[in-house]
Amino acid sequence: MSASIRSVSRRLCDLSREHFVDPYSRIRWPESVDPDGWYFSPRLLSVHGTAVAGTLGEAGMRRLSLLEALNFFSLNIHGEKQLLQGIAARLHEERFRDASPYLQHFIDEENKHLFWFGEFCRRYGRIYPSRLVTLAAESLPTDVEDFLFFARIMMFEDIVDTYNAQMAADEALVPVAREINRLHHADEVRHRAFGRSLLRHLWREGSARWSRSTRERVSDSLRLYPGVAWREYFNPDVYRDAGLADPHAVMRTAWASEEAVRRRQEMIAPSIRFLVGLGAIREEQG
Ligand SMILES: [Fe+2]
Ligand SMILES: [Fe+2]
Repeated sequence: MSASIRSVSRRLCDLSREHFVDPYSRIRWPESVDPDGWYFSPRLLSVHGTAVAGTLGEAGMRRLSLLEALNFFSLNIHGEKQLLQGIAARLHEERFRDASPYLQHFIDEENKHLFWFGEFCRRYGRIYPSRLVTLAAESLPTDVEDFLFFARIMMFEDIVDTYNAQMAADEALVPVAREINRLHHADEVRHRAFGRSLLRHLWREGSARWSRSTRERVSDSLRLYPGVAWREYFNPDVYRDAGLADPHAVMRTAWASEEAVRRRQEMIAPSIRFLVGLGAIREEQG
């Protein structure tokens, strides 16, 4: 691969070992849900800034905060399961030789996250099914697939981590919700740094060989992805469980609200900027 990936991998392996935690004893799980507790920061709720928020009242918003926490952890479960499959498939491939030691930590840490998210959902509610429909795409050359795979991970983790970082700092949250966000954020800082280094490397190695139409496909696909990932934060099943009438209308309103559009821009801006900087997303689309 390259000396830079080798050294990034080595440095991040050291940090992962330093911050190694036993996931099974790390969190104190309360016996039951605290009906007065906030499980998701009120200002991050999908309906924040919409008329729906006003109709729910304080108790309704607290209840919604639990449901949105369950949805947030569920969408993380779905995303991380795909991520684990993709990383496991590449782990011992020669082209990932230098990254492999860190990929091993990546897998280990994502598995811990899956345990925390799964445990939370199992104890205090349920895992919401993913609403994403994956269409069978025509297969691409391996190096293009590698780049797209890690670019999607970066965008997925950037969005999640914005939530994690803000909720880890929110003293209004019940301790268990805050702690899961804090622990996740601590690992994701390394994953995001690794993702950017690896993407720089994959782009440098591969993109010069790609045809113009392949580059355009990569750019279009990356441009679309954040919207697809972000859509999962607006779940009609959650609104139904919160007792809201016409959950699909709530989803459409919340999705299109000024607040949601603004927040989406803010969440995806760093990864789009990075990909435009690389040249993977065409400037005029950025
Ligand atoms: Fe994770
Ligand atoms: Fe991660």
